[in-house]
Amino acid sequence: MADTKSGNQGPGPRGLSDASSEGDVNLSARRAEWQTAHIGADTAAVLAADAKHFLHQSLSTPCLDVLVEADGIYLTDLEGRRYIDFHGNNVHQVGYRNPRVLAAVRSALDTLPFSPRRFTNRYAVDLAARLTALAPGDLDKVLFAPGGAEAIGMALKLARMATGRHKTVSMWDSFHGASLDAISIGGEALFRKNVGPLLPGTEHAPPCDPRACLYGCGGTCTARCADYVDYILGKEEDVAAVVIETVRCTDVQIPPREYYQRIRASCDRHGALLILDEIPIGVGRTGRVFAFEHYGIVPDMVVLGKGLGGAVWPMAALIARGCLDVAGAQALGHYTHEKSSIGCAAALATLDCLEADGLLARATAIGARMSARLAEIRRRVPLIGDVRCIGALLGVELTQSDGRPARDAAERVMYGCLANGLSFKVGQGNVLNLSPPLVISDSELDAALEILEHSLVEVASLG
Ligand SMILES: Cc1ncc(COP(=O)(O)O)c(C=O)c1O
Repeated sequence: MADTKSGNQGPGPRGLSDASSEGDVNLSARRAEWQTAHIGADTAAVLAADAKHFLHQSLSTPCLDVLVEADGIYLTDLEGRRYIDFHGNNVHQVGYRNPRVLAAVRSALDTLPFSPRRFTNRYAVDLAARLTALAPGDLDKVLFAPGGAEAIGMALKLARMATGRHKTVSMWDSFHGASLDAISIGGEALFRKNVGPLLPGTEHAPPCDPRACLYGCGGTCTARCADYVDYILGKEEDVAAVVIETVRCTDVQIPPREYYQRIRASCDRHGALLILDEIPIGVGRTGRVFAFEHYGIVPDMVVLGKGLGGAVWPMAALIARGCLDVAGAQALGHYTHEKSSIGCAAALATLDCLEADGLLARATAIGARMSARLAEIRRRVPLIGDVRCIGALLGVELTQSDGRPARDAAERVMYGCLANGLSFKVGQGNVLNLSPPLVISDSELDAALEILEHSLVEVASLG
């Protein structure tokens, strides 16, 4: 299928366009078409006001639609249309308005809505104790922050202070947040271009991405990209940290076990810290509390965020090895909402849900059910080039008959699904990113897959 209307034509890193990034573009012709067909006058008026008052930016304003409610697995818009939400910015492992989370938040609101710095509070201490008890090895110190990018920033500062070095090695095509330090280690042109000098010493390596592997793995990973990281660490000799998304969330790149075994050994050999970013994929999404548990390694630091706040509160956590508690005389975070009583209450209730409702096992079961159905659809829809799954995170990669990314098809499938009540994100331009709430029932899951199948078949039939 020719890729003619997506507006995603310009070249970028890896020969891909700027839109091959974090999420689907908000100014494409396909979006305009969808809005013409589905947006009524009241919604249009709110969208116009949004566009008038907010600074415009890629992937955000102008917006698609106007929400009035979020509940369980559903979003409801101003016109009463309901979407099953497989997007949720990856905050919604426990679903929206989860009763346990809301009760905990209400209780904190009624007693201690804010905790000024200098004081601590029971919610924060309990959450710190809980997270460090869940984390393996000597990951037994934490710092909280109001967002993922800030927590990444704290990890970078701590790595500098602990090692006396400032350089990092991170991955092209990665995303670690939108702040200047986070985009310096991130690898997406959409965030890095036209902003002037980024942090010095931030080297980048090719990611473990078997289908686009620079070393020609061709789908059978040889982990040579891990050897390249080792090569950089050996050449530079003074790298503070290697920073990696354990599983790259945008297009669901799942490195083999061997990759992290080698990366861990390289970091140890060269005195670099290993920082894993699990902001969108930690807290149960992959079927484990921490995604690195799939790999038999323990990082020096791990960063959680998003779902930690139970789809209510912005909440992120840096968890570090105890031996890295070396910056007592300096400020690492100093965020106003650092020990948020409400955020910590929400996070504690979220962890309760994971445990009491068996959501880790449920994530694995959801992934298995979705993979089986998608494998069956793939036999009939050659547009699907690959399906990747870890826990309840799936990437459905759409490719043209010549193997090139089917970006326009991906957009068409997404807008077809939105029209029928299923929302998800498109990552790296051609990968349907499916991230369902872990509280979804089998029948709801089947209904969502029905919508997806319908749209895939329809778009594939267009040729
Ligand atoms: C892998 C990853 N790291 C970091 C971030 C940044 O988190 P936040 O938006 O809370 O700053 C994101 C957000 O999408 C992410 O996906």
